[in-house]
Amino acid sequence: MQILKEKQSLKKQIRAYKQQGLTVGFVPTMGALHEGHISLIKKALSACDKVVVSIFVNPTQFDNPSDLEKYPRTLEKDVARIMEVSDKVLIFSPAANEIYGNNIVSENFSFDGLEHEMEGKFRTGHFDGVGTIVKKLFEMVEPHKAYFGEKDYQQLQIIKKLVEKLQLPVEVVGCPIDREISGLARSSRNERLSSEQRQNAALIYRILQQVQNDFGIKSASEIATWVHNEFRNNPALELEYFEIANADDLKTATDKKEGQKYRAFIAAYSGDIRLIDNIALN
Ligand code: PAF
Repeated sequence: MQILKEKQSLKKQIRAYKQQGLTVGFVPTMGALHEGHISLIKKALSACDKVVVSIFVNPTQFDNPSDLEKYPRTLEKDVARIMEVSDKVLIFSPAANEIYGNNIVSENFSFDGLEHEMEGKFRTGHFDGVGTIVKKLFEMVEPHKAYFGEKDYQQLQIIKKLVEKLQLPVEVVGCPIDREISGLARSSRNERLSSEQRQNAALIYRILQQVQNDFGIKSASEIATWVHNEFRNNPALELEYFEIANADDLKTATDKKEGQKYRAFIAAYSGDIRLIDNIALN
């Protein structure tokens, strides 16, 4: 197991892998690893000769300073967790100045409108921050394949767009959402939920499953009304948005069209902890 903190040593190691003709898989993370991350790492290990996992809480993608401050940082535990899976993983865990120097700012991107939907409406600058760090990491790691969870489905679409626009030679692999037994989507933020909050948060997935059942039978607006009522009747969670959208361009869907793929999306608060989830509707 190798843990590197400097980009120069990372690049040197990557060059050595490439000179040996090895394929490189990449799993970018912000640490506080859970089973969802581990499944991405296992998937990368099964398809690539070498796997790089980055652990970096990226400051430019947080629109809320308190969210950044409270984001769990558990490097030692993360390293131990990865070791249980494989000792063949290279961990890249840089400090912020190694990535950004003294200028912790985002680049401005256009993702052809994807960035203005859902999360983009509520988290100003978030996707510029994600684009900035993923671009920087892709330039350092130069992976053949990079793995992202569908829990952050909008992020996944945006990263595919980034790769397309910059013509980066990397295959972006989207991986299914990993869930707790209750159905709650796994997230590093779940660690901050009390056991009661955690139980209540399972409602998000139950609602999404009902939406999946009803889509095509009821109209999108009837479904939206039902979802808003469910949240109103369950004050443990506060709905930020519910959206049924076209799965490719993430534009709001009003009805179901033949040959079109749709997903439903929810962002909700449990106390001050923001949770997101989504489900494929067809
Ligand atoms: O999904 C995440 O954990 C982050 O947004 C990512 C892709 C590692 C960039 O910081």
